[in-house]
Amino acid sequence: MKNLFRIFSICLFSANSYAQSIISEPEVAEGDSPVAQAQIAIIPEPVSLMKKAGTFTLPENISIQASKSEDLQQAIVVLSERIETATGKFVSRVTTANHPTIKLIINPQPDAQLGMEGYKLNVNPTQIVISANKPAGIFWGVQSLIQLFPVEIESKEMVENVKWKLPCVDVIDYPKLGWRGLMFDVARHFFTKEEVKKFIDNMVRYKFNLLHFHLTDDEGWRIEIKGLPKLTEVGAWSVQKTGTFGDFIPPTANEPRTYGGFYTQEDIKELVQYAQDRFVNIMPEIDVPGHSLAAIASYPELSCTPDAVNYKVRSGEKIMDWSRGAPPLALVDNTLCPANEKVYTFLDTVITQIAKLFPFEYIHMGGDEAPHNFWEKNDQVKALMQREGLKTIPQVQAYFEKRVEQIVVSKGKKFMGWDEILEGGVSPTASVMSWRGLKYGIQASKDKHNLVMSPTDFAYLDYMQADQITEPKVYASLRLNKAYQFNPIPAGADPKFIIGGQANLWTEQIFNFRQVQYMLWPRAFAISESVWSPIEKKNWTSFIDRTEEHFKRLDLAEIKYSPAIYDPVFTVKRNADKQLIIELTPEIEGLDIYYSFDNSSPDRFYPKYTGALTAPKDASMLRVITYKGKQVVGRLISMPISDLQKRAK
Ligand code: ACM
Repeated sequence: MKNLFRIFSICLFSANSYAQSIISEPEVAEGDSPVAQAQIAIIPEPVSLMKKAGTFTLPENISIQASKSEDLQQAIVVLSERIETATGKFVSRVTTANHPTIKLIINPQPDAQLGMEGYKLNVNPTQIVISANKPAGIFWGVQSLIQLFPVEIESKEMVENVKWKLPCVDVIDYPKLGWRGLMFDVARHFFTKEEVKKFIDNMVRYKFNLLHFHLTDDEGWRIEIKGLPKLTEVGAWSVQKTGTFGDFIPPTANEPRTYGGFYTQEDIKELVQYAQDRFVNIMPEIDVPGHSLAAIASYPELSCTPDAVNYKVRSGEKIMDWSRGAPPLALVDNTLCPANEKVYTFLDTVITQIAKLFPFEYIHMGGDEAPHNFWEKNDQVKALMQREGLKTIPQVQAYFEKRVEQIVVSKGKKFMGWDEILEGGVSPTASVMSWRGLKYGIQASKDKHNLVMSPTDFAYLDYMQADQITEPKVYASLRLNKAYQFNPIPAGADPKFIIGGQANLWTEQIFNFRQVQYMLWPRAFAISESVWSPIEKKNWTSFIDRTEEHFKRLDLAEIKYSPAIYDPVFTVKRNADKQLIIELTPEIEGLDIYYSFDNSSPDRFYPKYTGALTAPKDASMLRVITYKGKQVVGRLISMPISDLQKRAK
């Protein structure tokens, strides 16, 4: 609240100590001004941006005037804080002024083109105006405005010697999709309430408006449910492990189960409010019937498997056999029992409270990757099949999903599940999140289900974005250029039913919040442009130029990102003589790659890569580094030749 107080305080004297530090410049002809030539780098690309003659210079006395100002409080706070922190100038909020610096206007008559979230942004030589139909539009307009400032606006402390000039522009902008989501898995690793707030702060910079909160999984139950205390006394805690998740040695009985955490209901209310203030909805996910080991370890009676009394919250040890593909073969039964009425009573209790805590219209109930091998052998499930006339195990899951949907609907909410819910006969009112590729979403749209596109091929941000030699190992890769190809409204789909697009950040291999950021950016830039900007506005070259500008912004904002675009892609094959042929392909243009085979670290005075390499016979290591002109931009990558030999097999 301290900063709120600051912006309400009127600046009494303009020659404050901060103002002294802004060096005044001799006037330059407009055409020569660096800012006139500076690249405009807004992400996501607006619908329309017209550059005009002239520049706007931030004055010493800055005032923001807002119509219907209560609703615009957050937009004012965000903008004022950013300006005050980086420039050291005070920003006053005024209700009347002859010529406020920045005007935020809610249109008295709605402008149909702008819809609920669109805005117009006019930067003129002496005034900035943002207008919108709704406060959300003003908020997104403020994000674009901040991106028009010099990059130093992102600084966490005052920056001296900056010319606070902006190019004059007219922007008209509105989103392609009303659901622009990022999924955050806080179950595999727990992230604190403050980290979730930071996640929200980061996502709104790029106009994401939906946080899909993956709250439960085999590794943790993260939300307090009154009347079911073991969910958080037992289900929220595992044994701390560090290394490669999925390959950990099973914990012993006496290792402390103190790793994890959960959100109290008060925490959840605080997060929901925090998100709402920033025009973000939070959609909770309770992932059932699979992915439920934390719930089962807390209440073993929810399982059909008697041995569940011995089950523990997963600490990253192997519990599934994926060798024959999906659905996996469970080594421990991590499913809720579809044939046990206690399960539906349990879910009723959980969903009743979830529905009250989260105002968003949807509750996501999972449904993915439920292994069926324990159900196939279970007498209770067999009896259920007979009683209900279910012929196949997928029909058993469909029965479960329909019962869960009834509970969700009885609490006044809409039911959403991962695309596996389409199997075995889905209810016509269920909404689908398509993840196993676009085709399930395309089919769901044809079958008239509301759906959100979040396909693994384009939108799984837990996948590796650079060579596996530099990344925590995950079973698949997604480079930035592929993420940029994400089209949430693909050919063949009925667009009427595509309510959104989103990217998913699973956190099995993400142990801390810096790595969360590293995995998000810049790929979430690509997703944001895919779900906001018109497809004809997307342009890879322009996107990369803007991405590089935003790297400077993230550096100043102290947000981590991946520099993977500067790392070459390694491809290997063998020639007729069985020699290893190594190709290095930069992901973007304008890079020079230098290399060594002699174990020393290359720089730009080393051999430059110009074509496929053959490793000298005795070489054990290929080291590469990437430059842009004289500036090193890539990471030093040390690639064992033995690794490449394996890849060439
Ligand atoms: C998923 O990735 N299992 C939805």
